[in-house]
Order: sequence, then C-alpha cells, then structure tokens
Amino acid sequence: MHEYDHDFGHRRRGRRRFDDELDELSTPSSRKTLPEDDFEDADAPEGADRWSTWADSPPTARGPRPYPDWLVTELAAVDTDLGLLKTGKEADVSLLRRGVPDTDRSCLLARKQYRSSEHRMFHRDAGYLEGRRMKESRSNRAMARRTDFGRELIAEQWAGAEFAALTQLWQVSHDLGAPVVPYPVQTLGTELLMEFVGDHVTGEGAPRLAQIRPTPEQAHDLWQQAVAALGVLARCGLAHGDLSAYNVLVHNGRLVLIDLPQVVDLIANPHGPRLLFRDVGNLATWFGGRGVPDLDARQVTTHLLAQAGVV
Ligand SMILES: Nc1ncnc2c1ncn2[C@@H]1O[C@H](COP(=O)(O)OP(=O)(O)O)[C@@H](O)[C@H]1O
Ligand SMILES: [Mg+2]
Repeated sequence: MHEYDHDFGHRRRGRRRFDDELDELSTPSSRKTLPEDDFEDADAPEGADRWSTWADSPPTARGPRPYPDWLVTELAAVDTDLGLLKTGKEADVSLLRRGVPDTDRSCLLARKQYRSSEHRMFHRDAGYLEGRRMKESRSNRAMARRTDFGRELIAEQWAGAEFAALTQLWQVSHDLGAPVVPYPVQTLGTELLMEFVGDHVTGEGAPRLAQIRPTPEQAHDLWQQAVAALGVLARCGLAHGDLSAYNVLVHNGRLVLIDLPQVVDLIANPHGPRLLFRDVGNLATWFGGRGVPDLDARQVTTHLLAQAGVV
C-alpha cells in the first residue's frame, strides 16, 4: 500500500473550494488597465508603454534556446499593454504586444505580474517558504515580517519559481514533440512574460477547461492529453500542486497547463504523492462529470509515480 492510499482514505473534508472559483467573480467583463502598476516608463517611445525589457533579464532568466522565430528579441522593440486578461489574488495577467516600431515584427505575450501589495493573499507562501532557505538572513527576516521589501522578495520568488518550472517543462515536452506549457519568455523582478495562449487576431485568451462544454469524445481526448501532460511532469519528477480545471487552458483542441509556481518535487517532498493524487483526482472528477467513463485516479497516480521513479 502506498503512502497516498492511506492519506486518501481519510480524505473527507467536503468539496474543496478552489481559489480560482472565487477568482471567477473578480474577472473583469471588459479589459481595463492595471491598477497600482508601475508598468509605464517615463521615457517610453510614443504610443508604447515601455522599451522592451528583453535585454534587462540575464540569459538565465530568458526562455530556452533557440529562441522561437515568433519571439521578438530585437533591442529596438517596445512593449504595449493591451489590457487585463485576468485579475487574481496573487497575480494579474495582462496581454502585451512586443514589437519593433515601423516594422511588422511583433508578438503577443501574456504578462503575469505577481503582486507584492498588502492586498495580496498569501495562501501559498507558508509551505513554500518552509521548504526554502535563503542564504541571506536579512531577506529571511524581511519575508517573515512581511515588510514591503519582504513582500517584494516573496513575489519575486514566485515569479522565479514559475519561470523555472515552465522552462524545464517546456523544454522536455518540446523535445518530445508537443509543449504542454506556454513558452517562458523571460522573468524580471515580480514579472513573468510567457507565450500568449489564445487568439492572436482578437487577443482573446484561450478558455479555461472549466469554461468549456466538450462532447464526451472531446472530453475523452482532453483527458488523454491531460494524462500525457502529467506524464511529462512526472518524468521531470514533478506534480503541478494546484491542478484543477481552472489552471488548464484549451486552445484549438490542445490542452495547455498553466499556473505552475508551486510545482511539487515528487521525490524530495514527502507530500508529493498525495498532492499528485489530489491533482489527478481534481481532473478526474471534472472529466467524469463530462462523460469520460471509468476514470481511476488511483491507477493514474500509480502510473505517474512509476514514471517519476517513485515506487
Ligand atoms: N499564457 C497565457 N495565455 C493566455 N492566458 C493566460 C496565460 N496565462 C494565464 N492566463 C490567464 O490568466 C488567468 C490567471 O493565470 P494563472 O497563471 O492561473 O494565475 P492565478 O495565480 O491568478 O490563478 C488564467 O486563468 C488564464 O485565463
Ligand atoms: Mg490559476
């Protein structure tokens, strides 16, 4: 019997209320620009909000090479905020155009701005900070006391952690033939820029899994894609850690996992198997409700743990 069998056996806490369900309530009906944001740059060129920040991130904070053809890396490029895609408790995601003025070189990016303001909720911080020890004790103290500086550091760590997870997962899945996460473009401070998943003409973001009504056949196909995507994570020794139908986008029938700052190390984290089981269970419940028969979350979890090398 696996450890997670035991944990699951005692799991009866009623329906889990997803944080993202609450998020839905705060989704703006039409785009507006970000509040309390220092996005605009005083010496930005006319018509844009800032110069491209590409050169400001060190190579280690930029996406995997070779850089994709669509990605604008020119130093002459400018960034223009096209408005919010989604506000969240911990981050705001907006649409950004990065383009070289007077040329047709441009791309759309999703910009995830982790909040460091007091209004931000910290529900993920406790566990995360527990597992990490920063060398500099001044930073530790600042984070523990939630000073402005400490909050900024926490937000930066989240952006860095999500960037690192995306980088690993994009690379591995790309090498296998089909990326399961958006291409990570760069991270800088509390900001993460990634490939925009959605309609590049209208600028409309791809729907979350929770928003679509697939036929049973489509649902079956999406479930298989989900299991394959989790297989990629497992082979990297990872579980998503906050997986639900709200953190999965579906673009032209293709499934993309997002929101990965809290990825869980299946080998080092003693709760890894249980968290993986929870992730799988969340999706299995959703897909089960959409007509996919015979979903066995336990069996899938066992299979994924084997892929991760956890026995
Ligand atoms: N790369 C992306 N392309 C398109 N939309 C995105 C992208 N990343 C995030 N979003 C949108 O922003 C929302 C919030 O992003 P997410 O990473 O889940 O952050 P949060 O921590 O706020 O839940 C998503 O549900 C999705 O609608
Ligand atoms: Mg989310």
